[in-house]
Amino acid sequence: MSSVAEPTGTGRASDEITTGFPVAGPPRFDSIDAVRNGLADVQYLADDGISGVVFLADRLAKPVLVEGPAGTGKTELAKSVARLTGSRLIRLQCYEGLDESKALYEWNYKKQLLRIQADSGQAWQQLEEDIFSEEFLLTRPLLEAIKSTEPVVLLIDEVDRVELETEALLLEILSEYQVSIPELGTVRASQIPLVFLTSNNTRELSEALKRRCLYLHIDYPQLDRERAIIEARVPGISQALADQVARIVRSIRTLDLKKSPSVSETLDWARTLVVLGVESIDAEQAKDTLHILLKYRSDIDRAAKELVGVESPD
Ligand SMILES: Nc1ncnc2c1ncn2[C@@H]1O[C@H](COP(=O)(O)OP(=O)(O)O)[C@@H](O)[C@H]1O
Ligand SMILES: [Mg+2]
Repeated sequence: MSSVAEPTGTGRASDEITTGFPVAGPPRFDSIDAVRNGLADVQYLADDGISGVVFLADRLAKPVLVEGPAGTGKTELAKSVARLTGSRLIRLQCYEGLDESKALYEWNYKKQLLRIQADSGQAWQQLEEDIFSEEFLLTRPLLEAIKSTEPVVLLIDEVDRVELETEALLLEILSEYQVSIPELGTVRASQIPLVFLTSNNTRELSEALKRRCLYLHIDYPQLDRERAIIEARVPGISQALADQVARIVRSIRTLDLKKSPSVSETLDWARTLVVLGVESIDAEQAKDTLHILLKYRSDIDRAAKELVGVESPD
């Protein structure tokens, strides 16, 4: 159970962790293979690197910092792990200007005001206790994750967008899994959630945050994995077409482009081809649909030149 302790200020509770490390709960996964297979069951195709880090994150009770280009499955990994473990997904979407009141909690001023107006006869002290109780607290994702009594996967998405102070706040929460609310006391997590922080690398994160986390870099997938992703995520696609799409995307990624196609764009392209009833891609069809895969005119022109070599197998 999560507990709201009285704000006694008298130091450590007797049952507090003494090793300095959060204690992991019962293991969620038996092995690295179990992670990979379980993720495949929920249509997320992971390689050994990804499944290994997820396995360790659980055993070591450490957050995972996932970096890599956009559209390579960082956010989807957290969602898939939640699905796989039957956990509730709590998402904190980061943006510039995100602060404590949106990440952690804030008091519901309007409701407090109404309460004060509604009850004029009460002594101030009683009223104060009343309006600073849980009923008047608006919990935001971080507190929600800590309070939760059911299993949680906490996704702190695009953490590179927040300012350094907010990053420090996140770090504090992630090292202690507790939140201290001056008027209310300390809320301690009854279980360590699985935490994923994603970053698109728009700025360097602090050393302290990196130290706290396991690091996972997700790059564009290898050919086999991308083919498997296409087959898993594009209903009705033939193996042959999935293979062709994966190969063409792979060769396009070797070009010097402004923006390489991501996995999500590969999937959009594959879906487009299925909708158009294409069974095997020829150069002409590829050129006509390149705008699904690439988003810059110069990239499209460059790829179109390369594609002259693509011929239908028959
Ligand atoms: N390993 C994977 N297995 C299955 N689908 C994937 C995988 N990687 C990416 N995808 C697909 O690509 C889409 C974009 O991934 P997303 O997690 O939103 O990217 P990111 O957060 O890295 O920008 C997902 O919705 C999913 O359909
Ligand atoms: Mg994302």
